[in-house]
Amino acid sequence: MTVTFRLNGEDYRFRDDPMTPLIDILRQERFLTGTKAVCREGFCGACTVHVDGDAVPSCLKPVGLLEGCEVVTIEGLSAGNQVLHPLQAAFEAADAVQCGMCFPGMVMSLLAFMRDNPDASRDDIKAAMVGNICRCTGYERIVDTVADCLAQQRQTAKVAGGADV
Ligand code: FES
Ligand code: FES
Repeated sequence: MTVTFRLNGEDYRFRDDPMTPLIDILRQERFLTGTKAVCREGFCGACTVHVDGDAVPSCLKPVGLLEGCEVVTIEGLSAGNQVLHPLQAAFEAADAVQCGMCFPGMVMSLLAFMRDNPDASRDDIKAAMVGNICRCTGYERIVDTVADCLAQQRQTAKVAGGADV
């Protein structure tokens, strides 16, 4: 079976078993090793990528379901000379990253959450993180950073809205 989809902004064609998990294509064929394979059972969130903007565990996504989809991995967040996405940079500045194993998936999950929940509370952020396990247990700094980024986003939107009046 042939499946064609977009991967980090480029066309990608896969010819093989449609039940192959997306994570195997990312890591073994495309060498996009930022996406981590930890539990491979949908529990840890380390393998999270975006499919058509939604955060999904790539270990549970058969490639046969991706025809025409837009897939973005942690590597796809970089733009031009910008090596780190602003959320990644904020985590780094806050010293929130420990071993880093959970972080690619954490970033992908939280970006989708932040886009859809700009007014999220700390409790909302904590609830959103249930699908992303950090074995280093650095949850508080992660929640702090996301809360700060959302507050900055709201402030920026407020200023931009005011400028239009
Ligand atoms: S490796 Fe996919 S959820 Fe854990
Ligand atoms: S930073 Fe180590 S698992 Fe999260």
